Amino acid sequence: MAIFLFFLILLITFFIFFVIQFYNIVFRSYAPFISTKRNVIKKIVESLNIKEDSIIYELGCGRAGFLRAIGRKYPRAKMFGVEYSFLPFLIAGLQDSLTNNNITILKKNFFKVDLSRADMIYCYLNLETMKRLEEKFKKECKHGAIVVSCSFPMPTVAPQKVIQEKGESIYFYNF
Ligand SMILES: C[S@@+](CC[C@H](N)C(=O)[O-])C[C@H]1O[C@@H](n2cnc3c(N)ncnc32)[C@H](O)[C@@H]1O
Repeated sequence: MAIFLFFLILLITFFIFFVIQFYNIVFRSYAPFISTKRNVIKKIVESLNIKEDSIIYELGCGRAGFLRAIGRKYPRAKMFGVEYSFLPFLIAGLQDSLTNNNITILKKNFFKVDLSRADMIYCYLNLETMKRLEEKFKKECKHGAIVVSCSFPMPTVAPQKVIQEKGESIYFYNF
């Protein structure tokens, strides 16, 4: 009976997760929950040259794989993952608690998060969201802040460089 209840709760949790994701993807143009490939994360982290104690945000962090990779190279960095969806938020929190790092996972809509302290921001989202974020970055990002977007460029800001990794374009911006 206990096992049956456990699987029933699990099933209901997944069902609610998929309904919310479906609604947000179809009606609000939110990016779905898909993780950046490991080799792409590796390439981005290798290409970055940031100060040791940088403040870093991953917008729509999913499982926060990018931040954990950053934490391995820059143990003094202060990192914030922002995720609205409860399932990836829980997974990220769980994985985070198993490692010794400076990652804080915020369960929030990233459009409501102040980005003015960020030295570096990572995104793997979609074109529609990058269009909206471009306006937010222009208003909030401090001079010198770096934005990296995997696969989806901003519509009007010119990237400082674009690199390719296994068929993915990675866009680097300097504000
Ligand atoms: C394509 S996944 C990327 C996950 C992770 N950043 C990675 O690269 O592995 C996009 C994530 O953004 C989240 N997301 C989309 N729109 C969001 C919003 N407005 N606020 C917070 N999270 C959002 C989704 O729930 C999803 O987990």
